[in-house]
Amino acid sequence: MHSISIKDILTRKPLGEKIEIKGWLKTRRDSKDFSFLEINDGSCLANIQVIAASALKNYQDTVLHLHTGCSLLVQGVLNESPAKGQEVELHADLLEVYGWAEPDKYPLQKKRHSFEFLRSIAHLRPRTNSIGAITRIRSSLSFGVHKFFQERGFVQVHTPIITTSDCEGAGEMFRVSIPLHSDMEKQNESAPVGDFFGKPANLTVSGQLQAEVYALALGKVYTFGPTFRAENSNTSRHLAEFWMIEPEMAFCDLAENMTLAESFLKYLIGYVLENNKDDIQLFAKFIDKELFKKLKAVLNNPFARTTYSDAVAILEKSGKVFDFPVRWGVDFQAEHEQFLCEEVFNGPVFVTDYPREIKPFYMRLNNDNQTVAAMDLLLPGIGEIIGGSQREERYDFLVSRMKELNLDLEEYSWYLDLRNFGTVPHSGFGLGFERFLQFITSMNNIRDVIPFPRTPGSASY
Ligand code: 4AD
Ligand code: MG
Repeated sequence: MHSISIKDILTRKPLGEKIEIKGWLKTRRDSKDFSFLEINDGSCLANIQVIAASALKNYQDTVLHLHTGCSLLVQGVLNESPAKGQEVELHADLLEVYGWAEPDKYPLQKKRHSFEFLRSIAHLRPRTNSIGAITRIRSSLSFGVHKFFQERGFVQVHTPIITTSDCEGAGEMFRVSIPLHSDMEKQNESAPVGDFFGKPANLTVSGQLQAEVYALALGKVYTFGPTFRAENSNTSRHLAEFWMIEPEMAFCDLAENMTLAESFLKYLIGYVLENNKDDIQLFAKFIDKELFKKLKAVLNNPFARTTYSDAVAILEKSGKVFDFPVRWGVDFQAEHEQFLCEEVFNGPVFVTDYPREIKPFYMRLNNDNQTVAAMDLLLPGIGEIIGGSQREERYDFLVSRMKELNLDLEEYSWYLDLRNFGTVPHSGFGLGFERFLQFITSMNNIRDVIPFPRTPGSASY
């Protein structure tokens, strides 16, 4: 017999039909002549209720011993449920156990566990309602990202994970290095002939530079992949390995770049509200009562825009005492970003035209010679969710900036070639996927929206 998913059962409701399900037991409750079993198979948040009557031949020696966590196969007929809280129930005529989970050893019991505790059992936490829901939302959003770009004619480019360039120029990279032996040397294990890649290589911090190469040939491209940063930041917003979506567009200036970022974010919010309502509902119930209101407000209102200089003036005049005092030239801290979008603009805000000194080498210099055509999008409760810019497309400007920063021009000759051969104005941005998931679910810690978080001191599983 072919088994079907609980999601499928709840959508189609094949009443009166004999069906088979497979999943994990959430709870068992016994009454006089039967037991109620709540089973979940991960296909959706909802469980299915199974009625296991005492007439089942393995009722005494199996059903009455079932505990949270054991895996089951159940066959039976689907009926309308007379009870409140569910529309259908499955009347079992056959029940088999795949694997037991001893109640005094299985760490997930019926009570609610803290997210900190769940992080310590990351191999079992996907069986909880919350982590299951996040995982489905994550998968759905990932599909939504591709849908958005593909429907708009963007071409996905798989940029390398191992690189020899430092895109963000921050130097916070994980080194990839292994000695290279010649075939002869391998046998007698003598000294290596060199490094595997012939020069220092790292895990990528961003696919942007390579995406620019393809944008200057295919017009509109995007990347969606893992990126790695060796920042020693133990915050609820930082991971050492996170996923980033980076569109890059030829013939595009900063204003058009922001327009795309805004419609992209709104599209994704609309997408989850339409496709993942039940899962979002869980977070609205237990994590943030205002979640739907928050998401709809972002969906339905235009994003605010301010320049960095105006934002600094606003912060200086606010009278608020910050741990890190603000003045023109310093980078914003989380407290400044939060103040701007939560107290000043009451919603998402694009901050543009940052001082050139605090931004990477590739951003386009503005006419004031002080600022660059950068944009960061700040979200309430999150802070920076997107970083982007118009790129410096003028060879001379780019070279002089790179020289100021002591970058090896030889190493970046391919990047400079793009400015020598058919250069065009172009722009792009990067959206941090996990930070966006935090915004969508109101989850406080970024470690709970990625299956296996990597952070300083922690790379288990
Ligand atoms: O602002 P960032 O560093 O921008 C870039 O990497 C550009 N190359 C993007 C581009 O223009 N194509 O990073 C982009 C976003 C941030 O706004 C943030 O949401 C996220 O990536 N991010 C992180 N997320 C989790 N953990 C970290 N350590 C992150 N660092 C950045
Ligand atoms: Mg940034």
